[in-house]
Amino acid sequence: MRRLLTILLTFSVISCGEAPVEPTSTDTVQWMLEHAPDYLESREFRRAELEASLWKPELPYARKRLTAYGLERGGWDLLPEFEVKVTTVGENPTEIELSSDVPQTREEWLALGEQVFWYAPMRRDGYLLWLSERPELWDELGLQADADGNIRGVVRYTDPLGDQRTAITCGACHGDQGIAGAANKNLDLGRARAIFGEENGLDNTLFGTWGPGTVDVTDDGVTDPLAIPNLWNLDTQTHINHSAAIKLDSPAALAIRFETQYIEGQSLLRRPNRVIPWALAMYVYSLKPGTRPDTSLPGHTTFEQKCGSCHQADKAFGGGLIPADSINADPLASNSPLRGTGYYKVPTLLGISNSDRFMNNAKVDSLEDVIDSGHPYGETMSENDKVEILEFLNTL
Ligand code: HEC
Ligand code: HEC
Repeated sequence: MRRLLTILLTFSVISCGEAPVEPTSTDTVQWMLEHAPDYLESREFRRAELEASLWKPELPYARKRLTAYGLERGGWDLLPEFEVKVTTVGENPTEIELSSDVPQTREEWLALGEQVFWYAPMRRDGYLLWLSERPELWDELGLQADADGNIRGVVRYTDPLGDQRTAITCGACHGDQGIAGAANKNLDLGRARAIFGEENGLDNTLFGTWGPGTVDVTDDGVTDPLAIPNLWNLDTQTHINHSAAIKLDSPAALAIRFETQYIEGQSLLRRPNRVIPWALAMYVYSLKPGTRPDTSLPGHTTFEQKCGSCHQADKAFGGGLIPADSINADPLASNSPLRGTGYYKVPTLLGISNSDRFMNNAKVDSLEDVIDSGHPYGETMSENDKVEILEFLNTL
């Protein structure tokens, strides 16, 4: 605690009320270590960072946050905190309790972030309890068991009213095979909800149309399920979400996105202690796919010519924003009433060799099909270029 106070004194003088700070260091985790006191202690800092990240403030997604987060008076800041005290679900239920003491070192922050990623309840939902009691369905719905025989990314907890809740964590969707950051493209929560509906007399047939590897994260009356993305190399990205609704003006934007996501997932009744989303964002920023692009291949040159203007090497083979109607892409997400911007972000292709089900709707099943589909302009490629580019893509 003493150490925190010293840091606080150093930073509080320069940070309060200032405009968002651009990260000067390429080491995002280091930036987050240095700015932890700002986020934890300064409402003005958080408010400024929120506003800077919502570059389309008229979107309902943005408006909801702008009217409730980091306000001078009232709003979500006043919500009581929830404790992260959960039990894993499966053959060996284990109780896990996360401390909200402020970590002191990089290692401690990252270790907490990792725990949050796997165990903090992101979103509770009635059908999850039912699902957690149907082991015979787990496999076909893409739920995985961890080394202890528990469902990866599903936890139970008791809410403040004493009711048992079942919730999903980041790890269920973004922790394929226990690898934090890898999208679980077999997870089919839409189908799970459709079967749940059939058994319980609810009309959930629309959910059944989502398809594996996608989730409709919005409640906007439109069925627009989106591919669960990999979380690699976020420090090279300028925006997040397929439709780029959030600008990563600074790493604080990611923590605020997670903080507000937990608040929504808890039905706007509780908020996490801010140590939780800050540690989580730090951890997510540290995730890398562990692959090594082979730039000595002839396919690298071909890729640079045909794809490099958008998928830029210095941005982890991702890049900026593209008007959605300028390329061959499913337009649903870019038109989403809640978070559509009219744009798509060019996703990073690092880690793509270990991925499947591509594009924002997860409907393209292989890298070969991406090329055969005529991405991005509907042009066909010579057989030789195709073979070379595929060889290179398979090293990413
Ligand atoms: C039920 C599945 C699910 C869960 C649980 C989930 N996500 Fe996601 N995540 C998604 C989907 C789907 C998207 C795409 C949303 C969009 O594009 O609007 C996404 C997008 C993201 C992105 C943006 C990535 C990018 O490059 O655009 C990040 C970062 C992220 N999630 C992190 C997390 C973290 C951290 C947690 C835990 C707090 C979490 N997610 C929980 C499904 C999930
Ligand atoms: C005009 C810009 C542009 C060019 C040029 C371009 N892409 Fe893309 N790429 C995008 C955008 C935008 C997306 C996201 C589209 C979506 O989600 O539907 C994307 C998505 C992808 C994906 C899917 C990634 C995922 O995680 O689902 C792959 C693979 C891909 N591109 C490969 C290529 C290859 C190979 C080339 C060259 C032949 C290429 N791209 C050229 C803009 C471009």
